[in-house]
Amino acid sequence: MQSAKKLSVEIEGRDQITWESLGEQNKVTFVGCFEFTQLVKNYRTHFGNDVFKWPLPNGSTHSEMIIREFILKLKGRWEYPYKDEEICHCRHVKTKTVDNAVLNGAHTHELASRWTGCSTACGTCKPDVEKVIKYRVG
Ligand code: FES
Repeated sequence: MQSAKKLSVEIEGRDQITWESLGEQNKVTFVGCFEFTQLVKNYRTHFGNDVFKWPLPNGSTHSEMIIREFILKLKGRWEYPYKDEEICHCRHVKTKTVDNAVLNGAHTHELASRWTGCSTACGTCKPDVEKVIKYRVG
């Protein structure tokens, strides 16, 4: 079931994939690093141009995480575990900042904390940061 007319998923300043419904036709455009563009090309080769039929990638590279987000959002199944804009109130760290760190390789709480400054005061945000990491990385 197609629920959007246009959807774009990206890592800020890095990779982006966009789906657009143009009446009878769908258009998918993508830009990014070699790994990301190769993954999209491989998906097209193996699973066709209908992105609604693409399977979810299982891995935890930034490319696989972006494609997984893209597919889940297309299917209306994206359930990001933390909704507020700011995840760490002591250090005023935005959720997007932590999410970008996870996408770029901070796959443990320790790394996410070191890269963004989150969870370096009272620590009550730690469970939420871990939920974000678990949702992205699995
Ligand atoms: S809310 Fe993140 S350290 Fe206190």
